[in-house]
Order: sequence, then structure tokens, then C-alpha cells
Amino acid sequence: MPNSAFDARNIELMQSLADSGQTKPFYEITSPMRPVVNIAGKGEVLVLCANNYLGLADHPEVIDAGVQGLKDYGAGTASVRFICGTLECHRKLETKIAEFVGTESSLSYVSCWNANEALFPTLAGPDDILLSDELNHASIIDGCRLVSKKVEKQVYKHNDLEDLESKLKASAAKECRWVIADGVFSMEGDVVHLPEIVELCKRYDALLVVDDSHGIGVLGETGRGTPEHFNLLGEVDVITGTLGKALGGAAGGYVAASQKAIEVLEQRARPSLFSNALPATVAYSACKAIEVVQQQPSIVKRLHSNVATFRKGLADLGFKCPDSPTAIIPIMIGDEAEAIKKSKALYDMGVMVIGFGFPVVPKGEARLRVQMSAALTDEHMQTALDAFAKL
Ligand SMILES: Cc1ncc(COP(=O)(O)O)c(C=O)c1O
Repeated sequence: MPNSAFDARNIELMQSLADSGQTKPFYEITSPMRPVVNIAGKGEVLVLCANNYLGLADHPEVIDAGVQGLKDYGAGTASVRFICGTLECHRKLETKIAEFVGTESSLSYVSCWNANEALFPTLAGPDDILLSDELNHASIIDGCRLVSKKVEKQVYKHNDLEDLESKLKASAAKECRWVIADGVFSMEGDVVHLPEIVELCKRYDALLVVDDSHGIGVLGETGRGTPEHFNLLGEVDVITGTLGKALGGAAGGYVAASQKAIEVLEQRARPSLFSNALPATVAYSACKAIEVVQQQPSIVKRLHSNVATFRKGLADLGFKCPDSPTAIIPIMIGDEAEAIKKSKALYDMGVMVIGFGFPVVPKGEARLRVQMSAALTDEHMQTALDAFAKL
């Protein structure tokens, strides 16, 4: 029997979203993710909103590797890691990730969301304090919420070194002080102030955690992420990241850290103990994606050049976008309904750029978010800029 209060609540919320123009559309794509995709009932659309930063989602070698994984190991592990779900390809991928991001070891998960939910509750001790940037990704926020109530948690102002330092000073009695930040902030597209934060962590003997989901494959001359961008490879204690963006775009995530920290996660983290392992097809395709980046750093160069070209193009049209080397370019609109309206107008012109509103960003800070890709040609970028000019 349906519960009437439950149904009424859902109907009311959906109606209020529709009335205020805040309903998010879900476009159904009928082709692989690539610069131009086919949308059911519409036709071809240029994509400027995927996390397909290096264009590897439909790279022939990445696809072939995924198919090979399926042939070698079948659909999946049908098990969690410690029972009978650890495959040779998991270990190969994890060794490759650790080597690529500059840590001793790594552990894969079915998503970076899972990785963040594994990390904080498992490794934070009762006398620790977690200091988290206010604009950190929702998966970090939720990961920290899962930590025992005994562990103190504080939020510091976004990229604010003074605020962070005062909180570090005030927590001198804690056994371990954690500083947690995104490498590239997903809604602002700005970069963590890593050199200063590394220095603060050294001075106060704090543990640094960086979620580099939007930095990996994007920043640094060879795509090794935010630490490479600042010439600080090996200086971040714990790195989490996704395989669902630049590194093939399928799904999956990882925690990269010291050997012992990874061993504890393997033994104790709830997502490791109670959730299936990454499918082999994804382990293979992600591994191949990293190899492609290592063998063809020109893809990363192309992304950097596209980022610079598109940022300049938008600025020339009068759009105010904060200066940043990242592939995330937010265009602030303010009102959510207006952001969705503008996104629809671009879509009608054949360009897919999503409008973000509450609860993804705070109320009143709705925006369009452009994401660049190495796969976009000069013609693609000009087509998109022409649409922005009309907007
Ligand atoms: C900073 C950050 N961390 C974690 C995630 C979650 O990644 P996944 O899709 O692998 O769960 C995202 C995805 O948007 C992200 O932007």
C-alpha cells in the first residue's frame, strides 16, 4: 500500500521545483561520450559539461582494454575484495595509480565517493581533529560525517591560510590534525593553495589529504595532478581521486597513501569489507587510460592549450570567469531558474552546458559550468563561443 504522506511530500517537492523553473532536465545520450554526442529526440549536441578532460572515454585503446577485461574476467567479481574479489588487474591498477600520483601504495574503490567514505571514518582516531575546506566536495563532507562523534571536526574558510593556521594552532593538543582539501574545487574551478598548505602541515605536523578528482590528468605538465602542478609530487600524505573523469571516465576511485595506511583501509574500511570490488573491465580501461597519458603527454598539452583558448574566448565576449589553469570554468549567474534558462538556451543552440543550482551550490550562487576537454577541436570551441556570443 502506498504511504500517502510519502507520496504527497514527493509530489509537492516536484511541483515546487517545476513552478520555480528549477527542475533539472535529464538528457538521454545515445552515443559514446565524446565532443559531439547524440541525444534522443534532438540529434547532435556539442558537449562542454563532461569530465572527459582528456577525451579518453571513447579512446580506442581504452575501449579495447575494457573489452579485454570483460573477456579475461567476466562481468565482475561477485564478491568483496577480502572474500574472493581481489583480481590481479586490481593490483596492477593500484600499483600504477600509486606510481602516477607519487605515493607508496593505493587502493581502488567503485567510486571516489566510496574512497572518501572509506578514508575518514577508518583512519581518523578519537583524539584527532579534521580541518576541512568549506568548499570541499560533498563526498568529503559526507565522509567526515561518518567519522565517530568523538573526533572533532571543523571547517576552515575556503583556501584561507590564516583561518587554517589559527585552527591548527588552536588544536595543538590533538593527536593528529588532518587538513583536507580538494585539489581543484569542482564548482569554482580554482586550485588549492598547495605550497602554503604543505608548508603549514609540515610546521604543525598535520596530515594533508587532497582529493584530486578534477586535478588528475588535468594539472601538471604530464597530468599527474595538483601536486605536479606545484612541483610537490610526493609531498601530499593522502590523495583520493576518481577514475570517472580524465582517466577513462568509466567509474571508480582510489585512495593513494603510505603502505600501512592502505593496509589498514584494506583490513578495516567498510566500503572495502562490505561492497564489491571494481569490475575488471574498469580496472583494465583505467589502467590503459593512465598508460595513454604517460605515453602521450601531448594530450595533456592539448587540454592546457584548449583551456587557455576557451577562457580567453569567454573573456573576449565579456564573460567574467575567474583566472585559473583548470578545465572547470564557472560563469556566475546567481538565480537558479535563470541559470537553467540560459543552459536551455545554449542547448537549443546545440551546446550542452549545465546550469548548477541548490543543493549543488549555495542558494543565490547558481552558475553555468563549462568544462574543457583535450578532444575539442578549434572548430568545436568556435561553435561553442558563437553560441555564448548569442547568449
Ligand atoms: C572532488 C570530487 N571528489 C569526489 C567525486 C566523486 O567521484 P566519483 O564519481 O568517482 O564518485 C567527485 C565527483 O564529482 C568530485 O568532484
